[in-house]
Amino acid sequence: MKNKNIIIKVGLASCGIAAGGLEVYEKIENFLQKNGIDAELKKTGCIGMCYVEVLVEIEDEFGKTMYGNVDDANIDEILQSHLVSKSPKKDKIVFSDNFGGSETEILGLQTRIVLENCGDIDPESIEEYQEKDGYQAIEKVIKEMSPEEVIQEMKDSGLRGRGGAGFPTGLKWQFAHNAESDKKFLVCNADEGDPGAFMDRSVLEGDPHRMLEGMIIAAYAIGADEGYIYCRAEYPLALKRLRIAIKDAEGKGFLGNNIFDSDFNFKINIYEGAGAFVCGEETALLSSIEGKRGMPNLRPPYPASSGLWGYPTNINNVETLANVPWIIRKGAEEFAKFGTEKSKGTKVFALTGKIKRGGLVEIPMGMSLREVIFKVGGGILDDKKFKAVQLGGPSGGCIPDSLLDTPVDYDSVTATGAIMGSGGMVVMDETTCMVDMARFFLNFTQDESCGKCTFCRIGTKRMLEILQRITEGKGKETDIKLLEELSVKIKAASLCGLGQTAPNPVLTTIKYFRNEYEDHINNKHCTAGSCKALITYKIKDNCIGCEMCKRVCPVDAISGEKKGIHTIDQEKCTKCGACYDTCKFDAIEII
Ligand SMILES: Cc1cc2nc3c(=O)[nH]c(=O)nc-3n(C[C@H](O)[C@H](O)[C@H](O)COP(=O)(O)O)c2cc1C
Ligand code: SF4
Ligand code: SF4
Ligand code: SF4
Repeated sequence: MKNKNIIIKVGLASCGIAAGGLEVYEKIENFLQKNGIDAELKKTGCIGMCYVEVLVEIEDEFGKTMYGNVDDANIDEILQSHLVSKSPKKDKIVFSDNFGGSETEILGLQTRIVLENCGDIDPESIEEYQEKDGYQAIEKVIKEMSPEEVIQEMKDSGLRGRGGAGFPTGLKWQFAHNAESDKKFLVCNADEGDPGAFMDRSVLEGDPHRMLEGMIIAAYAIGADEGYIYCRAEYPLALKRLRIAIKDAEGKGFLGNNIFDSDFNFKINIYEGAGAFVCGEETALLSSIEGKRGMPNLRPPYPASSGLWGYPTNINNVETLANVPWIIRKGAEEFAKFGTEKSKGTKVFALTGKIKRGGLVEIPMGMSLREVIFKVGGGILDDKKFKAVQLGGPSGGCIPDSLLDTPVDYDSVTATGAIMGSGGMVVMDETTCMVDMARFFLNFTQDESCGKCTFCRIGTKRMLEILQRITEGKGKETDIKLLEELSVKIKAASLCGLGQTAPNPVLTTIKYFRNEYEDHINNKHCTAGSCKALITYKIKDNCIGCEMCKRVCPVDAISGEKKGIHTIDQEKCTKCGACYDTCKFDAIEII
């Protein structure tokens, strides 16, 4: 059969590859060859639904049909059914033009500006990006707009930096534009060190040209002729696709000298970071590019007046820059229609933790946390009870159940004590201990502190020690007060954002979950039943002796006869929880 009108796309971002996408891709190639089907097989980035990877989309006479949970065992059956028998396999469809699909509503709740092309185009094809109006914005900017007009458009759009602080992008560009110098730099911050965050990586893996075009526009606006992309070396696929994109953009004359026959020149370099969280901080990042140790410096001077090698430098996050071409193409007014009064547009989130539909989502600002978690994210895993959501990574905080109706916008989120951050959203259920959660984030920041400031270096260490002993049942009555006092001092006496925000997860958990701290300290009890030192696994009388727990126990701590009540040897038990998770008869309790 010869048919030029079939396009098959396989989601092959890091998530798709990890789920077995390359094997599926190979199987599709073989199937098409074996059956003589002339279809175009393509690789795309992440469409966001990481929980149903591998995703395969078939575009043909039925329109677009996306299959989820595809693996190398079921792909032949899906293709046979869809392409040969012309009977799409409905139970595997997650989204389609004509057959509905299990995830249709979820995608419908999202607004895709930044992720517009992710999962749709081949990230390694500049032509596909151009087919989606790519590089039209930069052409328009160079041919029709002055740098001042571009900056005004950004100001009118209301776009705020997506890297964490939410600083207005147009204003930032204005500062760099105003700086007088014959040399200026533009830097894209793709360091993305927050635990649980993968937004920027997904954009770069799925639609690298989009960010490049944003960078070229920003460079034109501020008057930079050279740029750097600072991307961590742990993102090899993003780096590979960026390198291809830069080469192809240069080949087409969108990068390099005399772009669109103007006198505007712009060159982009890639700098691979070693993966230190603090290097995401802008002054540390600049030091790192300069070949120095990545340590933050006192501001002012701000990078806009003295950045890379002393030249005026503008730094923007990946998602911020990826918004720019859309704003230029569609207009600031169109962009400002999405979002709230002071937070325009959309925000991309990496939804992780105890959530049914974990993945990458893009929602209009102003949507409530409840809607994001329970509608877009499908609710809590295993239908457990929601406890809190952590926003803003280690710089952020935990928002409790009572504040679930908070709209997702910069100011409302900040009012809770958390921050919007760069887009990590970690959902926690009733089994998560909030003291332990605070300990986890503080352990991260303490580890990542560059050590320059005494309060950040030693203060976070002391806080971590206190949290550690509370989770071990050795907490003292004065500990909560001590944690609060240290927090205030560390925030006030730290030089950079890392130290200034490190206590936030501790402060918000004390604010909203003080009872859990008190329970640990006063009763030597972990409310969530999660701190190992404070819990005991016990088998109840309703045990039917099925022996499932016995089989999974890694240390042979469970004994008992088949069909008889089993027991746990507390001396041997390492409290791994495997037996509890395995028992189907609710016969194991945590006390
Ligand atoms: C410790 C620390 C880590 C940071 N990590 C990142 C990061 O990984 N990516 C990022 O864009 N911004 C990060 N930032 C914020 C940047 O310093 C900077 O504000 C941002 O890149 C500016 O871009 P925007 O205006 O587009 O948000 C970090 C800040 C701090 C204090
Ligand atoms: S606050 Fe912490 S990470 Fe920042 S400069 Fe000081 S010691 Fe380094
Ligand atoms: S799995 Fe549950 S019911 Fe089965 S033996 Fe263990 S405790 Fe008893
Ligand atoms: S908690 Fe782990 S180590 Fe303890 S009895 Fe259960 S399976 Fe064994």
